[in-house]
Amino acid sequence: MEVVIAPAEELARLAADAVEQLVRAKPDAVLGLATGSSPLKVYDELARRHTEEGLSFGRARAFMLDEYVGLPADHPERYRNVIETEIASRVDFAPGAVQGPDGLADDLPAACAAYEDAIAQAGGVDLQILGIGTDGHIAFNEPGSSLASRTRIKTLTQQTREDNARFFDDDIDKVPHHCLTQGLATIMSARHLVLLATGRGKAEAVHQLAEGAVSALWPATIMQMHPHATVLVDDAAASRLQLAGYYRQTFASKPGWQGL
Ligand code: GLP
Repeated sequence: MEVVIAPAEELARLAADAVEQLVRAKPDAVLGLATGSSPLKVYDELARRHTEEGLSFGRARAFMLDEYVGLPADHPERYRNVIETEIASRVDFAPGAVQGPDGLADDLPAACAAYEDAIAQAGGVDLQILGIGTDGHIAFNEPGSSLASRTRIKTLTQQTREDNARFFDDDIDKVPHHCLTQGLATIMSARHLVLLATGRGKAEAVHQLAEGAVSALWPATIMQMHPHATVLVDDAAASRLQLAGYYRQTFASKPGWQGL
């Protein structure tokens, strides 16, 4: 696992560089898109590179991590709509190239199985962008999630619903209780994981992710088992890292030509 500590703008540029490098080398790449505030600067940078530098996603495809169950199709916080607003509509994905789990399906388990099939049929995800919850969840794999889980229905914790109430007029009662989420094993199947975290509120989760024991209690710790995982954090999110000095030194001495 590579941990990079840098200001948020630089983290976004590094993540965008990794996406750009992939898409230029493999135009039909499969991206994994995350919601939440953590990747927003990355999406801004990708949209800028699309508009100003001709970076194209015209042959690429993308899969979302998760979706709330039951939010109406036109609800602004439905993750399908959030991804549309934050990135899909700002670049040139072909119609239908961005997919997400169907939180409005009558048969939710069947929708989860179909989603796993769709990812597999696309050849798997090349680069997965991730954020992390304050309780260490990735996608919506809450503490206690099976480390071998695949896309399925999950119940959100009180903590996550409190954290996400800010997107629902600060009213926790408006935050759904259930979601569909890629499982930890689904996420681990992606070929490169790029996680972003900023702010002191993420410091403990980031410490556990990089340096804690691998455990369902801190689901993101499964990333320690991934052969190509990159963790991009600002100073505040890095404030509890035991090996921060080593991570800084390693990145500072990394050859410029070497990507993430
Ligand atoms: C939600 C999403 C996660 C995201 C997390 C952190 O729960 N399902 O994918 O990583 O929030 O969000 P933020 O980046 O806004 O802190």
